[in-house]
Amino acid sequence: MEYDNDENTWRRPSSHKGRHGKCHQIPRRSSTMAVVVLGLAVLSCLLGYCVLSETLPYESKTLRLVVIFFRHGARTPTTTYKSDPFKNYQWPDGLGSLTNVGKLQLYELGKKYRNYYANFINEEYYDKDVYVQSSDASRCLMSAYTFLAGLYPPTERQMWHPEIPWQPIPVHSLPRDLDNVVAGTKSCQVWDSMYRALLAEKNSDPKYNELFEYLSKHTNQSMRSILEVDFLYSTLLSEQEAGLKLPEWTKNVFPNKMLTPFMTSLALLTYNETLQRFKVGPLLNEIRKSFEGSVAHASPDYSLYLFSGHDVNVVGLWRVFGFEELLAPEYGASIVLELHEDTEQSSFFVKAFYRNNTKVEMPIEMKLPFCGDPCSYAEFISHINKFIPGNWEEECQNTVAGI
Ligand SMILES: *[C@@H]1O[C@H](CO)[C@@H](O)[C@H](O)[C@H]1NC(C)=O
Ligand SMILES: *[C@@H]1O[C@H](CO)[C@@H](O)[C@H](O)[C@H]1NC(C)=O
Ligand SMILES: *[C@@H]1O[C@H](CO)[C@@H](O)[C@H](O)[C@H]1NC(C)=O
Repeated sequence: MEYDNDENTWRRPSSHKGRHGKCHQIPRRSSTMAVVVLGLAVLSCLLGYCVLSETLPYESKTLRLVVIFFRHGARTPTTTYKSDPFKNYQWPDGLGSLTNVGKLQLYELGKKYRNYYANFINEEYYDKDVYVQSSDASRCLMSAYTFLAGLYPPTERQMWHPEIPWQPIPVHSLPRDLDNVVAGTKSCQVWDSMYRALLAEKNSDPKYNELFEYLSKHTNQSMRSILEVDFLYSTLLSEQEAGLKLPEWTKNVFPNKMLTPFMTSLALLTYNETLQRFKVGPLLNEIRKSFEGSVAHASPDYSLYLFSGHDVNVVGLWRVFGFEELLAPEYGASIVLELHEDTEQSSFFVKAFYRNNTKVEMPIEMKLPFCGDPCSYAEFISHINKFIPGNWEEECQNTVAGI
């Protein structure tokens, strides 16, 4: 019970945690650990890293809730193509799997968010503080786990095995055919037919003719759709990242000429407000519920929501927030929403950030185009309300058999 008031402790507007020392912040663990940390801190100051750590961690007295949606880490190709010289390449962990590089990327990202929110995210993991939901794809689940390993290394009290500096943290997920929240893979008839019409329209754009012909000829298979270009682009990218030498013909088109159709294909799933309603609405509904819970100080009052998904999901959120620029989210790219409380005005406001990959030190603030600055809670909610179907199933016109 000693941790019961924990929430209040770190919600206290002027938390003293981390306010002193910038270079010599010592986690309260064992004294040997403290000596090591102090030594390292002094050493890094000497090496000039002090400047960097002074900008961290992020401090805000008004912060109440954080939502982070990230893409999984580096993966092996999910598909191959007919003339692929690496068609029979033996990927040790199989197709579409998270690589060791990918595991490390998300671990590093978790550590970055740990530092960034050191004054907000409790050092100890408590079930009541954080809710994690992932796409059911193995690479997303695994990314969520390594992210959490970086975000919540066990404190001394939470070490449960002397040799494993890691603690289990639950990651929830819906099976693919039921997931309309994170991966957006649950079938929706109205969306399906709209998407198909839109894809056909894009594919008939004469500006792609030359590229389609070139790719069809060299891949030795039909490449007449930006969706096929999208898959091919991802495959070439993963092969290249794995150190495989791509065929000569790819040099003329990859990545440059294939980039726009690739990004257009990612954007197509959420191209206009109607499509966004079906693909992102249920996620926005979860975000709205979490905000409402925080504003009402309801229980359970989570303060951190994490979502682990795919590139198209990051693009969908980006587009719902009114950004039309085409995007190719890198591995571990993340969108962050922060809910703040202005206690003097007794009002709430929202901030949004984008961290385009796992190496960026600080998330970049995105000025929400539909909103004032600061973006008031009411404006934010009224914007996302437009995208949240009252009854998703019914609006999708899913037949009984399809449910
Ligand atoms: C292209 O496909 C045809 C028929 O499937 C096959 O006979 C031919 O060898 C292939 N060419 C290349 C370069 O893979
Ligand atoms: C979005 O695109 C689909 C397919 O082209 C179309 O049926 C729908 O009316 C569009 N919605 C809006 C708001 O433009
Ligand atoms: C990622 O963000 C950083 C920091 O804002 C920026 O310098 C860099 O150009 C971005 N990279 C891409 C590929 O957009």
